[in-house]
Amino acid sequence: MSNAIIIYDTRSGNTKLLAEKIMKRLEDLEVSVEIYRDKEFKSIDSIKDFGIIGLGSPTHAGQMARTFKKFLKKLTN
Ligand SMILES: Cc1cc2nc3c(=O)[nH]c(=O)nc-3n(C[C@H](O)[C@H](O)[C@H](O)COP(=O)(O)O)c2cc1C
Repeated sequence: MSNAIIIYDTRSGNTKLLAEKIMKRLEDLEVSVEIYRDKEFKSIDSIKDFGIIGLGSPTHAGQMARTFKKFLKKLTN
């Protein structure tokens, strides 16, 4: 089947927990999943190789975390 990548930011662990639950669900569906904390994910070009891309951030002041916004900027440049 398809392959997936999940990249998340977290401060107190909730987003990590959700990312891991999504990973397990996808694996149950026989999707191969790679999971990274945003600051650990360095090979941005490789993101194109994944059929499913999951991105997760905590909400800070009504928006995604500033650190995750920075990460997304790198991803889209
Ligand atoms: C500095 C800060 C600002 C936050 N602002 C919001 C907010 O505007 N709206 C909201 O619903 N939750 C807000 N939260 C709560 C977090 O989004 C929520 O606890 C989230 O589950 C934390 O995710 P994490 O455990 O992955 O860091 C805020 C938390 C922090 C620490």
